[in-house]
Amino acid sequence: MQTFSPIREKLNPQTAAKKIFSLIKTEMALVEAEYERQASSNIQVINYLGDYLRASGGKRVRPALLLLANYAVGGDASRENVVRLATVMEMLHTATLVHDDIIDNADTRRSRSSVNARFGNQSAVLMGDWLYMSAFETSLKERSLEILDILTRLTRKMTEGELIQLTMLGRTDISEDEYFDVLRRKTAFLFSACAEIGAILGNATREQQTALRDYGMNLGIAFQLADDSLDFTAEEEILGKASGADLLEGKLTYPLLLVVQKEPHFKAKLERIMHDGDYETVGRDVILEALEKHSALEETRRRAYEYAAKAQQNLEVLPKTEYRQALEEIPGYMVERNK
Ligand code: IPE
Ligand code: IPE
Ligand code: MG
Ligand code: MG
Repeated sequence: MQTFSPIREKLNPQTAAKKIFSLIKTEMALVEAEYERQASSNIQVINYLGDYLRASGGKRVRPALLLLANYAVGGDASRENVVRLATVMEMLHTATLVHDDIIDNADTRRSRSSVNARFGNQSAVLMGDWLYMSAFETSLKERSLEILDILTRLTRKMTEGELIQLTMLGRTDISEDEYFDVLRRKTAFLFSACAEIGAILGNATREQQTALRDYGMNLGIAFQLADDSLDFTAEEEILGKASGADLLEGKLTYPLLLVVQKEPHFKAKLERIMHDGDYETVGRDVILEALEKHSALEETRRRAYEYAAKAQQNLEVLPKTEYRQALEEIPGYMVERNK
């Protein structure tokens, strides 16, 4: 059995990403072209919004995952239908971001104004809906009920995740179970679906399909734990969205969940920030000191690596190829990334 070594994975995240993406460079260019086709419309206002969304980029982690999973089970990810489904996953992801920024009242996304900040909530809701439905319409070309089933369930779960999260806003007594339940729904199911659909389109065996589904789930959990940490540590210019925002939005994420477990009195300070919506009375330095005092970011990172290691173990049923190797490297990149 392969053991997970954080040391080996500690290469520069940008270098790691480049290496992983270089394997599927041609296919990712096809995804961009397909996205271009999908997001253009003969309705002028949608065209305009579509342009805006596409140009703003993003890491494109989800389509990359689908393509690599497809190759890893022996598929040909340059095929039209694989590229199409990879594009569908990025469209679905973008739709959730457009709606999420309305819900979170976020001004910045991908280093520019969010759609809601730029065009207003009304247009943003409809643009999100349009993206969702275009993604589903495109996915139907596959004529696969199995895939449609995954995508529909996934979208329901993501919506439930956002709804449950709304009910938890402003609460400082969130349990680990509640936290991980929301995290799985709002982030990890999408990663899981990307890996599983890649496997299905590559005619994977049942065992490989299940393994890749589990891989995506574990990877998604590691990804969101890293995202929660980046909210405290990242530079906004690199992150492309506001940092320190989770708490202002009323969200208690994993690092602070650990702090209040160890120091229940700290809840009052957090409630104050959540209530005020700014760091004026209780400063950000107070939060960072508390995280430091309880080694909460280190502990979060340790948890993220736990899931990263599980994800890597899930890959053991796959043949040893450069694609499997790339999939093995993704979890380390996810945890170490700086954006
Ligand atoms: C942002 O996802 C939403 C989360 C699940 C945290 P990404 O960090 O992949 O966003 P982009 O696509 O690169 O902008
Ligand atoms: C991320 O939600 C997951 C979805 C968009 C469904 P968050 O609100 O936690 O993530 P960011 O910080 O806005 O990207
Ligand atoms: Mg948000
Ligand atoms: Mg949100």
